[in-house]
Amino acid sequence: MASSRLLFFLCSILLHSVSLTIAQQTMLYHFCSNDKGIFTSNSTYQANLNHLLSSLSSNTHIDNGFYNASYGETPDTVNAMALCRGDTKPESCQSCINNSTQELTKFCPNKKEAFIWYDACMLRYSNRSFFGNMEFGPYFWMYNLENVTNANQFIHVLKDLLDDLQEKAASGGSLRKFATGNATIQSSQTIYALVQCTPDLSKRECSNCLTNASGLLPACCGGRKGGRVVSPSCNFRYETERFYDDPTANAPTPSPSQPSPTSQPPASQEGLIPPPPQAANTATQKGKENSKSGTFVLILVPLLILQYLSSLSGLF
Ligand SMILES: *[C@@H]1O[C@H](CO)[C@@H](O)[C@H](O)[C@H]1NC(C)=O
Ligand SMILES: *[C@@H]1O[C@H](CO)[C@@H](O)[C@H](O)[C@H]1NC(C)=O
Ligand SMILES: *[C@@H]1O[C@H](CO)[C@@H](O)[C@H](O)[C@H]1NC(C)=O
Ligand SMILES: *[C@@H]1O[C@H](CO)[C@@H](O)[C@H](O)[C@H]1NC(C)=O
Ligand SMILES: *[C@@H]1O[C@H](CO)[C@@H](O)[C@H](O)[C@H]1NC(C)=O
Ligand SMILES: *[C@@H]1O[C@H](CO)[C@@H](O)[C@H](O)[C@H]1NC(C)=O
Ligand SMILES: *[C@@H]1O[C@H](CO)[C@@H](O)[C@H](O)[C@H]1NC(C)=O
Ligand SMILES: *[C@@H]1O[C@H](CO)[C@@H](O)[C@H](O)[C@H]1NC(C)=O
Repeated sequence: MASSRLLFFLCSILLHSVSLTIAQQTMLYHFCSNDKGIFTSNSTYQANLNHLLSSLSSNTHIDNGFYNASYGETPDTVNAMALCRGDTKPESCQSCINNSTQELTKFCPNKKEAFIWYDACMLRYSNRSFFGNMEFGPYFWMYNLENVTNANQFIHVLKDLLDDLQEKAASGGSLRKFATGNATIQSSQTIYALVQCTPDLSKRECSNCLTNASGLLPACCGGRKGGRVVSPSCNFRYETERFYDDPTANAPTPSPSQPSPTSQPPASQEGLIPPPPQAANTATQKGKENSKSGTFVLILVPLLILQYLSSLSGLF
């Protein structure tokens, strides 16, 4: 009896650390633009890309978690952009971007254009200039496996919250377009949400991008306890537990009953890209990358572990 309890306890710890590790390191999604050209090894494009990416990963001073730069002469110019989530500490931002430069070139060898997203940052590069352009695709979504009981009310409050945050983020100026906030449903349940645009967008473009994203709410996450829609120019995420670092909270040390700011709320689940809405439910299947271009189903985090974790989350 006692030993089975101990085993359970140990498993819980193990699973908890697995979930934290996942939160810190797992790539959420990457996309290699197969129709945007390839470069050959040892080409000038390759050299320019390497130069740009190494300057990015050795840049210990990424202002406001945003970086964009171009390098090289036409036709071998490379444009790159990196953005950290607005609440990311400088060291984590740096580490995330460093990792992203290494992983993206590994995942998308010889592709002129590629994208990668993590919890804490995103990176993209291309031979075409995209600074200041709102680009909604490629996009993907993820959702929490658990459902809310009061879906209609929940979605209504969530929509209002996202609209409010959209306005705040879009007004954020050219250095930072990021907002977090919470809303309470009948004083019993709180929704926490985060929205962000790349700061090179105009107010209007940021707004349009987030409108596109939240327009996918019914398809991606209707009735779900958590979810996100992520695109090159903007993203939103919501959960029923706080998952972002609150700059106004002065005690950053997590107490056992609270998720740590960097911990992933359990049971986030992968969606797809670019999703024909009717295919949304394929996201619940344990899937692999579909090699046909267009639709992908990615399951990166084992479903069972997450479901188990979410049932255990009261322990932590
Ligand atoms: C990028 O590379 C592709 C394929 O090589 C080429 O067709 C396209 O014109 C290039 N774009 C720019 C802006 O140079
Ligand atoms: C690229 O250059 C390296 C070193 O100069 C050489 O060893 C390698 O064979 C070259 N690769 C190709 C594909 O040309
Ligand atoms: C980036 O990561 C590599 C290995 O993952 C490491 O060797 C390098 O020191 C890191 N660079 C910075 C600036 O953190
Ligand atoms: C970067 O990669 C290293 C080694 O793989 C890992 O320990 C670290 O947590 C990663 N950092 C981020 C922010 O993902
Ligand atoms: C949540 O709702 C979806 C669709 O309504 C359903 O397919 C799924 O099984 C539900 N999940 C749980 C954990 O109840
Ligand atoms: C909810 O947001 C308000 C600001 O709108 C903040 O004062 C409060 O601390 C937040 N509540 C929680 C539980 O984070
Ligand atoms: C990077 O973006 C800023 C706006 O946020 C812009 O002023 C700057 O010119 C861009 N850099 C490049 C190399 O395009
Ligand atoms: C995003 O919204 C704009 C209108 O603001 C629309 O023209 C465009 O098709 C939308 N893009 C996607 C991918 O939904």
